[in-house]
Amino acid sequence: MKTPPNGTPQGEAMNVDHHPVPETGNRFIDGTHAALVRRIGQIRERCDGGAPREQIAPVLDALTADLHAHFACEELIIRALGHDGWEEHAEQHELLNTQVGRLVAYVRECDVSRDFLSTVAGTLDTVLCRHETRYDGSYAALLKAAAPGAGRDLIAWGAEHETGIPTIDQQHRGLVGMLNDLHRAAAAGLAPADALRRVDGLRDHVHAHFGMEEGVVRAMAPGRFLQHRAHHAVMAQQFEGIRAEIADGTLDVGVAVRDFLRFWLMDHILGCDRPLLCGAH
Ligand SMILES: [Fe+2]
Ligand SMILES: [Fe+2]
Ligand SMILES: [Fe+2]
Ligand SMILES: [Fe+2]
Repeated sequence: MKTPPNGTPQGEAMNVDHHPVPETGNRFIDGTHAALVRRIGQIRERCDGGAPREQIAPVLDALTADLHAHFACEELIIRALGHDGWEEHAEQHELLNTQVGRLVAYVRECDVSRDFLSTVAGTLDTVLCRHETRYDGSYAALLKAAAPGAGRDLIAWGAEHETGIPTIDQQHRGLVGMLNDLHRAAAAGLAPADALRRVDGLRDHVHAHFGMEEGVVRAMAPGRFLQHRAHHAVMAQQFEGIRAEIADGTLDVGVAVRDFLRFWLMDHILGCDRPLLCGAH
């Protein structure tokens, strides 16, 4: 999904029917909300322009993929923030995925009329706007409280992050240090090639860590190995998506680190590794 460089400028997150979409203050989330709105705008253009169903279906599929990716990222961010209502929020996402999936399937499989096609973008717009207004505002205060102080580390390592397994804690601490360094460097200004080199370095460490950790999980908790490896695969895919957007200049590296990757790493350590590994030794 494409976002403007540096996230979403103030006021851009507006849906295609000109209902304001509230900004969460997290520029990564606000950027993806704006990208979803633009995607619905593309659907409206094709429908209003009388495009055949075969030309509308790929944009609907792209919207479905963008929605899935956005929901997964938003869920990990609010889980890492400690939002009590994250499961209920995830259920709302699931409901939206189902509703949008049914609409897309209907357009793809049925001989729908031009009149019906002209309502598709408006329906998507309303459904999404309702969710963002009703639910996505619920975590704005938590995001604000978690905003890093100027000149401070993005993540302050503490005992609450430890699994008690020295090699894993050492690697987690190393990844936290790399994110803190990247946050500082991005704030000072990084040339695109330097930013990408650092992101690739981080990726190498992440992959090495996942490999080592999977070996530990296989030995200590074999019944959880496959599930844990699948969790790592999803994380790696999310990292690749972020890396691709940084590489093509549609996502600012500072926004990526501050507003997504820190939550991505915290969710991994606190939400997944600790519950598994703290009880396994
Ligand atoms: Fe949401
Ligand atoms: Fe959202
Ligand atoms: Fe880990
Ligand atoms: Fe893990």
